[in-house]
Amino acid sequence: MRQIIAGNWKMFGRLAEIPAYAEAIRSAPAHVDLLICPPFTLLDRFATALKGSPIALGGQNCHAAAQGAHTGDIAAPMLAETGATYVILGHSERRENHGETNAEIYAKAETAMAAGLIPIICVGETEMQRDAGEAEHVVRSQLSHSLPPRFAGIVAYEPVWAIGTGRTPTESEVAAMHATIRAALVAQLGAGGSAINILYGGSVKPGNAAALLALPEVGGALVGGASLKAADLLAIAVAAPGG
Ligand code: 13P
Repeated sequence: MRQIIAGNWKMFGRLAEIPAYAEAIRSAPAHVDLLICPPFTLLDRFATALKGSPIALGGQNCHAAAQGAHTGDIAAPMLAETGATYVILGHSERRENHGETNAEIYAKAETAMAAGLIPIICVGETEMQRDAGEAEHVVRSQLSHSLPPRFAGIVAYEPVWAIGTGRTPTESEVAAMHATIRAALVAQLGAGGSAINILYGGSVKPGNAAALLALPEVGGALVGGASLKAADLLAIAVAAPGG
């Protein structure tokens, strides 16, 4: 399975940065699939800057409806029109800051797939849940309630306490959770569940990428802060196995 290295720019980035960034990431190694998820306002310009390259684009959210009276929201077909082929759904920052529920994420995933987008569904426990020994239960429950039965996309495991903190779970904790996610995906989706890339996210940096990406059932990374620097994202891509 080819690894996917996805950059989540969150609410960072301006138009003026795009030409130099796009030029730099064009030199990404060919053994990984590279994907950038910038703010909505940058997608169109990014699509132009990356024309002719294999680098893909994604949104960071979409509405559960394909269109409608929803001031301030973006619909999946609108994302697809910009050239985006992926969309991140259920990121913990959206679950926390916008009260997104598993049921909403499920509905968004269906709408995204109908628009031809590949959803990247994020799951992950809080520090309190991990300390209470509930991490695997929480993640299994998020998977069973937020993935539609015909889910064809990507899952990202992002422990909430590892996001933007510089802390990561131990390698054995990551491997154990990814094995749990794989088993849950196969139980839920049948054979299709074994073909899904499971990304690790949460403080992935050039310095820890090789170790994290080499773990069993880790199919790539969802990178926040480090993706804002083209050189760091490239270093993470180079560290992925298969090169
Ligand atoms: P950091 O890489 O900044 O920890 O962010 C991870 C993340 O939330 C990616 O979606």
